[in-house]
Amino acid sequence: MYNKIQETADFIKNHTSIRPRTAIVLGTGLGNLAENIEIQDTLAYKDIPNFPVSTVVGHKGQLLFGTLNGKEVMAMQGRFHFYEGYSMQELIFPIRIMKFLGIEYLLLSNASGGMNPEFEIGDLMIIKDHINLMGDNPLIGNNDDRLGPRFSDMSQPYDHKLIEEVKKIAEKNNIRFHTGTYAAVSGPTFETPAEYKYIRTLGADAVGMSTVPENIAARHMGIDVFAISVITDLGIEGKIVEISHEDVIEAAKKSEPKLTLIFSELVKKL
Ligand code: HPA
Repeated sequence: MYNKIQETADFIKNHTSIRPRTAIVLGTGLGNLAENIEIQDTLAYKDIPNFPVSTVVGHKGQLLFGTLNGKEVMAMQGRFHFYEGYSMQELIFPIRIMKFLGIEYLLLSNASGGMNPEFEIGDLMIIKDHINLMGDNPLIGNNDDRLGPRFSDMSQPYDHKLIEEVKKIAEKNNIRFHTGTYAAVSGPTFETPAEYKYIRTLGADAVGMSTVPENIAARHMGIDVFAISVITDLGIEGKIVEISHEDVIEAAKKSEPKLTLIFSELVKKL
């Protein structure tokens, strides 16, 4: 694995002169945030050795290297999901690569279902903690001590300083936000009403199908993580309606400008 990571990281370094400290993962319906990146190099996942290939509609499948608000960044336009059939190790491969490229800060975004009764569609939720309900963990298997410890600390899964910075940015720009706990499920089914109730009871404010594997891999290697959810539908008793992937994409797109502003202001501070 270590050699594969090195091979892929070397390939990427040979294809871009950008040396970012910050990586951004663009979630479902949020890929257009990339329009604000002054892109210098684009690498399609299919052209990168050892890289998995994205299969979901609404996910582009390329790595972008450029500057956002004057800061060098890399961005994953399209992420890998457990429900696509990748192993956890495959889907966090890009996060391993990021470490080898010198990434210190990982900014994650996703679309999720809101279960906190105060939430409305289109709201943003800063993730302060998570619950892994995926039934798997990317660190299962042999541990390579060169990457991180066998037993990975998770006392601060989402960096407190980054959270405080984003709160300030949102307040300054009159962006409504919540702070809460994200539960990750495998998908690809959305939740039944009973499942929403169950996950809410566990202490989660929002539920989605991503972010947690990437967070675990990043923390394992000492990368600081910030993550934010766009609430695209509601898993609240009395407010549960039929939803589709298209509804999720559409709702996420509407909130994209808020997210873009937050990420571009945040990278300036890093
Ligand atoms: N559940 C799980 N994943 C999701 C949801 C949801 O309600 N909305 C967007 N992704």
